[in-house]
Amino acid sequence: MWTEEHRNWDAVDYTPLKDGSAFPSGFMWGVATASHQIEGGNHNNWSEFEPRSKSQQLSGEACDHWNRRSDDVKLIRELDVSHYRFSIEWSRIEPSQGEWDQDAAQWYSDLVDELLSVGIQPMATLHHFTHPVWWDQLGGFEREENIQHWVDFCVKMFDLLSDRVEWWCTINEPAVYTTMGYVLGEFPPAVRSFKRARSVALNMMRAHAQCYQALKAKPRGEHCHIGLVKNINLFDPYRRWNPLHWIQAKVLDGMFNRCWINGLAKGKFKPPSGFRSVSVPGLKNSSDFIGVNYYTHLLATPFMPTKVEIDPLIRPWETRTDFRYPMYAEGLRRAFEMVQGLNIPIIVTENGVADDDDDMRPEHVRRHLHITAEAIADGLDVRGFYHWSLMDNFEWAEGYDQQFGLYHVDFETQKRTLKESGSEYKAIVKAHRTPQVVIMAGGLGTRLGTMTEQTPKSLIQVNGKPILTHILDWAQKQGCLNALVLTGHMGEQFEGFTHPGMSVRCIREDSPLGTGGALWNAQEHLEERFILLWGDDLHPIQYSELLNTHHTMGAPVTMCVTESHEEMNLRHEDGRLLEYDKISANPEFNGYEAGTSIVEKSVVLKHGSDGVWSWEETVYSALSGKAAVHLDNTPFWDMGTPERLELLEQFLKETTL
Ligand code: GAL
Repeated sequence: MWTEEHRNWDAVDYTPLKDGSAFPSGFMWGVATASHQIEGGNHNNWSEFEPRSKSQQLSGEACDHWNRRSDDVKLIRELDVSHYRFSIEWSRIEPSQGEWDQDAAQWYSDLVDELLSVGIQPMATLHHFTHPVWWDQLGGFEREENIQHWVDFCVKMFDLLSDRVEWWCTINEPAVYTTMGYVLGEFPPAVRSFKRARSVALNMMRAHAQCYQALKAKPRGEHCHIGLVKNINLFDPYRRWNPLHWIQAKVLDGMFNRCWINGLAKGKFKPPSGFRSVSVPGLKNSSDFIGVNYYTHLLATPFMPTKVEIDPLIRPWETRTDFRYPMYAEGLRRAFEMVQGLNIPIIVTENGVADDDDDMRPEHVRRHLHITAEAIADGLDVRGFYHWSLMDNFEWAEGYDQQFGLYHVDFETQKRTLKESGSEYKAIVKAHRTPQVVIMAGGLGTRLGTMTEQTPKSLIQVNGKPILTHILDWAQKQGCLNALVLTGHMGEQFEGFTHPGMSVRCIREDSPLGTGGALWNAQEHLEERFILLWGDDLHPIQYSELLNTHHTMGAPVTMCVTESHEEMNLRHEDGRLLEYDKISANPEFNGYEAGTSIVEKSVVLKHGSDGVWSWEETVYSALSGKAAVHLDNTPFWDMGTPERLELLEQFLKETTL
């Protein structure tokens, strides 16, 4: 027996979603799509079927993504997400058996490069409901001997992309593919046959296992994360007092959910409605993570409609989505618990809502993220969340009648417009992503003597790269995508400076403005919250820990302080900064500013002014008792003198950060 929780959502506090304290840093924030739903111009089992589908709508040009790839990557970047899940259209790669289209393969390779160049990690799905017509004619997943063709395609894609793509999904929602295609008759080949459904289900599990093993055996296999994507559709008894409703719910849950999950856990699969388990070679533990697609729960009675046209039953207080099933965020927790026993990381590979006018979606996003954050806080290993979908698209049997996008797509003009829900998702994501780093790189570096006569100090080479590059390498490792470099002395030398995977903007002051003046001068480029670094210090600390302190203390500025340093320049107590003096050491001082701080932009605006001023002297005294202190004794590498530069060189030679 399981409980069916329902919350009073009006009483739920969403502040942690907004202030960035709900999710751990390093959480994967994503959006998802599938090739056939967005690319346009595809020829596969689905395009063949479309004239006979329920809506009879043709996918046609879809979102014309095939021709608008680069612009669409910008849309993804615009959402501030860190990950993007897409699928590779096999029918484009191998349009007829054994004939491989290099240009099509190159298109996906370019997509991956474009994503990485703006700091977005790709996740590729190898089967998302579609495949080539020739393979369909051979019987698709109905015949075991066909599996090898698909695995060959998977291996080819892995060879091409696994140097850059770390995350792989084998098959998307085998239970949906089987049920919709072979029981409910809504997806191709639209038959109603339990017998055929059973062989398809079994072969999909075999295919998943073979694909996993083949990719894992590749040189980069160990380094990549490969998993199955399972749609968890919850079934609850319509009347909880009625044993027949319970029986129905249990049977459906077993067929749709449990048998697949058990199969993965045990390596033996009992297909839905089958009587015996079949041992599937390579199936046991064949997932490095489990992808959970979660949309709703269904209320079970022995008389449930098997036609999707008839509205499903819902609870009186639930809201129907455009798809007619209810919004039920509480169930996402049960979906996590259902796969928890696999003991592998869980990733929400899809969650979203059909809502044409976007009046439910903002709340839908908040509720599902709230449930996810709560599950993580309670110890469930949920690593990421991909919203379905990036943009409105071709929703299979529903055609263009159901819209799931964070961007609205006008299918006449192909114009994309961010919806309110898109801004909402972006705001939550942004609050949780590593903020922009702002690097003070304008100083004269006089203590370095002749070295800084020709080169600004942040561009001095240490162990083969400018110090600035080392600083950015570390920031990037900490999940940072944006850097603002404030330059002055010999600022022209920063022109054209880049760092792959990060966007770097250099702002040069015309005359020396001091540390505060430099920030004031660049105020229009500062994000609401940023990480302040010094252009001559390498400080390899965990930004997530510093950010946690910042959130907990709710401070305008949180500075990292070390207690193991030969000099001391500040006094702190109970996590707050009380006094700071760069110049005269005070015997009561008990800490040293280690050079990484979190700053709210409002502080710059409040305390700043035109002209020359010092950030440390002005702000630290003004914020005495308010600024927070994050203690961390990780050594920091200040290369301000030739001796220290030498020490840093040594350190970088000996360590990989
Ligand atoms: C999933 C499917 C997606 C998308 C979504 C919305 O089952 O993987 O392709 O269509 O449903 O209904």
